[in-house]
Amino acid sequence: MAVQSVVRVGVVGATGYAGAELVRTLLAHPGVRLTYLAASSDGPPLSETYPNLQGADLPPLEAFAVDRAAQAADCLFVALPSGTSGAISAELWRQGCRVIDLSGDLRLPGPLYQQWYPHAPVDPAAQTAAVYGLTEWFGDALADASLVANPGCYATAVLLALLPLARAGWLTPQTPVHVDAKSGVSGAGRSAKLPYTLAELGDNLYAYKVGLHQHTPEIEQVLGTGTRVLLTTQLLPMIRGIYACMYIPWRNGPDLNAVAEAFARSYAGKPFVHARPAFVPQLKAVRGSNTCHIGWHWDERTETLLVMSAIDNLQKGAAGQAVQNFNRMYRWSETLGLSAFAVYP
Ligand SMILES: NC(=O)c1ccc[n+]([C@@H]2O[C@H](COP(=O)([O-])OP(=O)(O)OC[C@H]3O[C@@H](n4cnc5c(N)ncnc54)[C@H](OP(=O)(O)O)[C@@H]3O)[C@@H](O)[C@H]2O)c1
Repeated sequence: MAVQSVVRVGVVGATGYAGAELVRTLLAHPGVRLTYLAASSDGPPLSETYPNLQGADLPPLEAFAVDRAAQAADCLFVALPSGTSGAISAELWRQGCRVIDLSGDLRLPGPLYQQWYPHAPVDPAAQTAAVYGLTEWFGDALADASLVANPGCYATAVLLALLPLARAGWLTPQTPVHVDAKSGVSGAGRSAKLPYTLAELGDNLYAYKVGLHQHTPEIEQVLGTGTRVLLTTQLLPMIRGIYACMYIPWRNGPDLNAVAEAFARSYAGKPFVHARPAFVPQLKAVRGSNTCHIGWHWDERTETLLVMSAIDNLQKGAAGQAVQNFNRMYRWSETLGLSAFAVYP
């Protein structure tokens, strides 16, 4: 697709995993000129930290400063830890920049945020202004958005699988949904921590934040059905990927044709979501791509509908979806700069 104009784009948090994936993705975007890269301090060229970026024409890595960022770029992707990210995004937004924030800071209203995050909420005006960027469902609201809250990685995998059922009226406050979800270790970011070392995580698998994962209220809020979600997140000895299995109790069973129609209707013309019955998604089939693969299985013996969903946490769960949102903000084709197919094998 030929683009009429080029946007000056900055990435704040460029040395992190989500930030570096943004840089890698944006380098392939014909409507983008990367003009600003920042982290907590300046440093060597990003291609020294991330050797996959050798040969890329990149601006230097600067210590983040709000005035400098606002002057250097028209649109900024902010991928900093929660507690820091939202406040910086709000400041850039107040300076007139368009901003896509990848943290959890702008996704929940203040009181709910305070229940689930160990930080003070951002100012309510910014939180209220932020459009929730689950592109397939809220893409129309993005065209005029100046501030976007990019969804959480687990929330993306789960919501893309459950929203067709919620919107069809099949999820209720009476029936909780159990979500068994696993993530590769890049979901924890780049900072060195003992549990993420090869000897600790290799040959291992365990649940974490049991009953406490901060994407729980995000999922419940967006479903909007009053359905309680038990989200059990687990760490996989892998680098990329989120795999979610969702168990929906269903007395007397669903009309399976109607379920298939609900998914088909929800994702018709949506190039990144592939949903079909009797399909078992695989993490390898989405790795490095912005796609989400969804399949479902009706289990008559237990009267349970099992829905399975797979994404790459750094693509559809972070940088890819952020660029998809950016495309909608600038009224470009949703797929611009995003690879359609995963790296395989
Ligand atoms: N990883 C994922 O799969 C994923 C998926 C969805 C959403 N997210 C969200 O994306 C955000 C970033 O995650 P990540 O995994 O990329 O984390 P990360 O690898 O730990 O990177 C954090 C980045 O933030 C920078 N930073 C921290 N404090 C800063 C400050 N005060 N000013 C400027 N830069 C600062 C760090 O710079 P230094 O290198 O200088 O410390 C680094 O570039 C988080 O909010 C996370 O929840 C991540």
